Amino acid sequence: MPDKSPARALTILGIETSCDETAAAIVRGTAPGPGAILSNIVASQIGAHAPYGGVVPEIASRAHLEILDSVIERAIAEAGIGAHAIDGVAATAGPGLIGGVMVGLTTAKGVALGLGKPLIGVNHLMGHALTARLTEGTEFPFLLLLVSGGHCQLLGVGGLDDFRLYGTTIDDAVGEAFDKVAKLLGLPYPGGPQVERLGAAGNPRAFDLPRPLVTGHNVRKTADFSFSGLKTAVRQLTERQPGATEDVCASFQAAVIDILTDRTQRAMGLFERDFPEARVRKLVVAGGVAANRAIGTALAALCARADYGLAVPLPALCTDNAAMIAWAGLEKLAAGSADSLDLSPRARWPLASAF
Ligand code: KG4
Ligand code: ZN
Repeated sequence: MPDKSPARALTILGIETSCDETAAAIVRGTAPGPGAILSNIVASQIGAHAPYGGVVPEIASRAHLEILDSVIERAIAEAGIGAHAIDGVAATAGPGLIGGVMVGLTTAKGVALGLGKPLIGVNHLMGHALTARLTEGTEFPFLLLLVSGGHCQLLGVGGLDDFRLYGTTIDDAVGEAFDKVAKLLGLPYPGGPQVERLGAAGNPRAFDLPRPLVTGHNVRKTADFSFSGLKTAVRQLTERQPGATEDVCASFQAAVIDILTDRTQRAMGLFERDFPEARVRKLVVAGGVAANRAIGTALAALCARADYGLAVPLPALCTDNAAMIAWAGLEKLAAGSADSLDLSPRARWPLASAF
């Protein structure tokens, strides 16, 4: 008789150190989710990098090294489990700032060895990509809009080993554009939340800013993005007309919203071509920029028009965290994938080869 017993729930320690957050979390569950987040500790280094207007890699790796052990101890203590209850140790193995990734991965190897449990190297982007499974058990396939400080991609996700790239940025990532515009306006890092806050009080039609690569202007077959022309236009505008900060933020965000919705709509066509059998069509938004409420509202309207469901994780699970790394590790381990202790960190690691 076939085994119908449900898969055993796994408890995974996750570690994230690829950028400027030192994070550890304990997650328990079975694929496809939802899972339980037993603890989720994020120690932000924003204060250490703020004077420089961006992340300084050397400062980041030193800060990870100093606090990671205590962050892991807190994650285990807050989860209220003994270390023996951990079934595997997952850590971001890339892509990201290599010094930080090395600190997290090396520490994870030590913990895995000490506990006698498997090590699972996780692709940071896969962590973002699978967050909607952790939070609401979203089934494959789904269309993914990944918008963070380092990435801007549209992908069809058919499974853990099936990521199809429909579009990527040909210059800046969207979060990077938010951060650069904030810097031009003299706002602190990270810029996204600042631009959103000030833009809410401004007029989105005050300035007519470019929308590069949007259908009608430049008819490309892919769903690629471009933000550098928009950023340059904002720079010229602020030089010509200093002081209109709220209107500049609102107009910039309106242009970003038009670009993201136009490209997502195009990717929906590619997704439907690739997955014609999908029973429910769903758009998942992930990465730090998904925390932006105006972008979320615009994508919700697009999904309503196109008959798609929409999953946007809570802001704390959109920005970098270790719960998403623990969950991706859980899914990999449940699918029989673990790594040896000589696994190397990777500064670059495309999602297409993440499993
Ligand atoms: O995913 P994440 O935490 O780190 C990366 O892996 O990059 O994303 C950080 C990015 C930053 O560029 C930040 O400015 C942006 O996400 N961000 C936002 C908002 N919150 C964070 N962008 C727009 N609106 C927001 N509310
Ligand atoms: Zn990220």
